[in-house]
Amino acid sequence: MKEIKADELHRGLKLKDAVGVGLGAIIGAGIFVVTGVAAEVAGPAFIIGLLAAGIVAAFNALSSAQLAARYPHSGGTYEYGYRLLNPSLGFSAGWMFLISKLSAAGVVAIGFGSYFYQLVPVGSPLILSLVAVVLLTLANYFGIKKAGYLNLFIVAFTILSLAYLIISGIPSIEKSNFQPFIPYGFRGVAESAALLFFAFTGYARIATLAEEVEKPEKTIPKAVIITIISAVFLYLAVSLVAVGSIGAERMASSRSPLQLAANDLNTPGIGIGLTLGATTAMLGVLLSQILGISRMLLAMGRRHDLPPLFQRIHTKYKVPHLGILFTGGIILILTLAGTFEFIVRAATFTILLYYGITNISALRQPGKEQLYGKAVPALGLAGCLIMSVSLPGKVISTGIILLAAGFLIRLIFRKIYDK
Ligand code: ALA
Repeated sequence: MKEIKADELHRGLKLKDAVGVGLGAIIGAGIFVVTGVAAEVAGPAFIIGLLAAGIVAAFNALSSAQLAARYPHSGGTYEYGYRLLNPSLGFSAGWMFLISKLSAAGVVAIGFGSYFYQLVPVGSPLILSLVAVVLLTLANYFGIKKAGYLNLFIVAFTILSLAYLIISGIPSIEKSNFQPFIPYGFRGVAESAALLFFAFTGYARIATLAEEVEKPEKTIPKAVIITIISAVFLYLAVSLVAVGSIGAERMASSRSPLQLAANDLNTPGIGIGLTLGATTAMLGVLLSQILGISRMLLAMGRRHDLPPLFQRIHTKYKVPHLGILFTGGIILILTLAGTFEFIVRAATFTILLYYGITNISALRQPGKEQLYGKAVPALGLAGCLIMSVSLPGKVISTGIILLAAGFLIRLIFRKIYDK
């Protein structure tokens, strides 16, 4: 295997940028859309499900932090799997990341178009989605620092809009909206936790970009921990305000539950502010997906699991430019093609396997590298397994077929490039 030249990329991300990338990857459709679905299955007690999902996500996040501290290489779990487990598990992690993030990126781009069109009805939602993909791909192309600045701006706007909702919603909270608290029993609460885990995914995105972070051994663990703790508190506060002001039933009736809550408040500009916040949230997720996917392509190209051209770094901008253009191109195609529901659903299974491999890798680290004790990855792994087996059989089998297709493609590339 070729020696990895870790210094070709530019270490342009400081702690604040790293936290920004984490929050940009996390805050998205989960809080803006999925909370409505969770309220439908669990009533007001989805807040307990949210907390449970946050705790499982935090265990997983700590495993990622521990691994990134020791192995700060592009590709995150793909690299950990290769180094600590075996090439097949490493490849599985990389391939499943690509499948789940690419399919989700198409959905997020479509989501952006439909939200933004409500504010700026020019062209059509699809055109707005395509323009966003092109602009974000270009932002990624011109260097990690520029992408980092843009991301911070986007994330700041999203957080401000959610903070505005929280502050203006507190006076409208009514106790009666929390009663009955658990109308569908603990089953419903457990289902809401599994659904809401999605809302926290993204905490490890910065580990995928490890070679572009300043002092990665220190910065990445700090960034991952700050990111997940802030996300849990922000989501809990937003959910308490939304349930408290409009009730779980009304949240369940909408696919934009937060907008519904915002529109009920008398605070000036809150409706439009929150819709803008939803659009910037989608942009943040999309930006961080392009960042993450292109660095995964880079890592997989280095090990010849994918064509080696993905490892090329632009001489001026110091980014994996071919991977970025390829990622942007695929997202454009997926956006044009519409949602492949079955792939998106299978992605929930594939990403849980990805996190499962992260936790197994963390368990394999020698004792002195275990920063938080073995119980943390063990609990993270248990959480991932419970959630993945609770998914419908069709979702699991589609995930397995997509994984098998990956191994077939890998076999072909290996035959071509490793003669
Ligand atoms: N956590 C991201 C979202 O909620 C994936 O959209």
